[in-house]
Amino acid sequence: MLPKINPTQTEAWKALNTHFAQNDFELRSLFQYNPERFNQFSVQREEYLFDYSKNLIDAKTFELLQNLAEESKLKSAIDAMFSGEKINETEGRAVLHTALRDFSDQEILVDGENIKPGIKRVLNQMKTFSEKIISGEHKGFSGKEITDVVNIGIGGSDLGPVMVCSALKHFKTRLNVHFVSNVDGNHIAEVLKNLNPETTLFIIASKTFTTQETMTNADSAKAWFLKSGKQEEVAKHFVALSTNTNAVKIFGIAEENIFEFWDWVGGRYSLWSAIGLSIVLSVGYENFEQLLKGANESDIHFQTADFKENVPVIMGLMGIWYRNFFDAGTYAILPYSQYLDRFAAYLQQGDMESNGKCVDRNGNFVEYETGPVIWGEPGTNGQHAFYQLIHQGTELIPADFIAYVKSCNEVSDHQEKLMANFFAQTEALAFGKTEEEARAELVKSGISEDEINRLVNYKVFHGNTPTNSLLFNTLTPFSLGQLIAMYEHKIFVQGVIWNVFSFDQFGVELGKVLAGKILAELENSEKITSHDSSTNGLMNYFKDRK
Ligand code: F6P
Repeated sequence: MLPKINPTQTEAWKALNTHFAQNDFELRSLFQYNPERFNQFSVQREEYLFDYSKNLIDAKTFELLQNLAEESKLKSAIDAMFSGEKINETEGRAVLHTALRDFSDQEILVDGENIKPGIKRVLNQMKTFSEKIISGEHKGFSGKEITDVVNIGIGGSDLGPVMVCSALKHFKTRLNVHFVSNVDGNHIAEVLKNLNPETTLFIIASKTFTTQETMTNADSAKAWFLKSGKQEEVAKHFVALSTNTNAVKIFGIAEENIFEFWDWVGGRYSLWSAIGLSIVLSVGYENFEQLLKGANESDIHFQTADFKENVPVIMGLMGIWYRNFFDAGTYAILPYSQYLDRFAAYLQQGDMESNGKCVDRNGNFVEYETGPVIWGEPGTNGQHAFYQLIHQGTELIPADFIAYVKSCNEVSDHQEKLMANFFAQTEALAFGKTEEEARAELVKSGISEDEINRLVNYKVFHGNTPTNSLLFNTLTPFSLGQLIAMYEHKIFVQGVIWNVFSFDQFGVELGKVLAGKILAELENSEKITSHDSSTNGLMNYFKDRK
């Protein structure tokens, strides 16, 4: 079981409050008075450098945050998760996405049963199946090879595979993998428009196999297929990834086309499971295995490294420092890699569905802040969009900058230019431009004293915006696995300290249930009067014009 400690009652939290009140954490002076700052606040590992020296911390802050981790019993929480304890107490489940990428011989028991053989079996099934599809051995109903794969799923059954397939485009097989998630019919219509049923494989990805969006899209995909193919040919073109084998069979998918996973894999942590089949088809099994191995490397680091050198632990603690002491309501994820264009969107679910909670593990409403809003876009695009607000707005927005030393595609001097921006931004955010510096620049430009006075404040950059820099050597399936797992563990660290249950998601239920009721009301011709006046008005407007 996880500890159930109110973080604000710990000695470390109280000490952090005092420490926060007594210091101004000014990055200019912190760097000026400590030439060793980078060495002190960075971790270098074989595949990456994690620099957290541009955070609003000093040695004392770091020590107190480490104390917070200790007092929150983070170590025992980590052990509880990895060993398969049912730490998802509200749903009575173990949390073992880490087991999916553990290639060691060590047994992991759930309800007394070793889950490792089952994991191996499904991995083998994914390997064999993908090899047949990629090689062209598997033929569609008219004897042609499969050319296109459509993954139908939503949330965790979509966002992880979408993000990874985009990130690993450089490693692509001959197959084109598409994703349909939205129940908005335009999504599936646009994807199917260019596809041929003879050469298309559908993956119906749904842990529960009851999700409205996915089942609606799956039905439409099947109807589209049956316009050309026969019912008995569905088996050649439809497979399912699910924990609910009964529902899959009722849908009409053959038993041998079901890739199983288990209730101890949370939806937003499921890309490592059968849900990763679209990834396997997109980049090949070997690359998928490398992705798993990279994640496993981060798992071992998280489990074994001293907290002072433990990257996910440090990331988690920095986030808590800003959320709870600086009152930073949002956190930006800024990858300087076009390949990571869906990384922030993926982390939005990972982080916000996990730690967007207001009831603690004792069942009480919390009196402190929990998960922040996660957002972001790749650099340098973001620089020309929202960075203005980070540099000169009124919010403190901590950010993670992620980049690669070597590009997968060396195109003239693009990489140097990209990285010049990466380095420049974290420097500018940290140190800004003082009024004195801004004035000196204006004087140099030769404009009048009046003009200088009129303009100077607009030219000031407050600086002191904290950033982490994660600089990987290259983007490979292995390093991507490391990166994703790092964030999974950061989220875990924060959930443990905030004393929330990070592995349920009851918050998505209310809207779902209401949508079900409303759907029935939209399907008849009666005037709507049973809701509030706004909802009635909106629904009647829709019904009148439909
Ligand atoms: O949005 C809620 C949620 O349960 C997510 O946690 C999950 O990833 C998604 O729906 C999809 O669920 P399923 O895989 O069961 O279709």
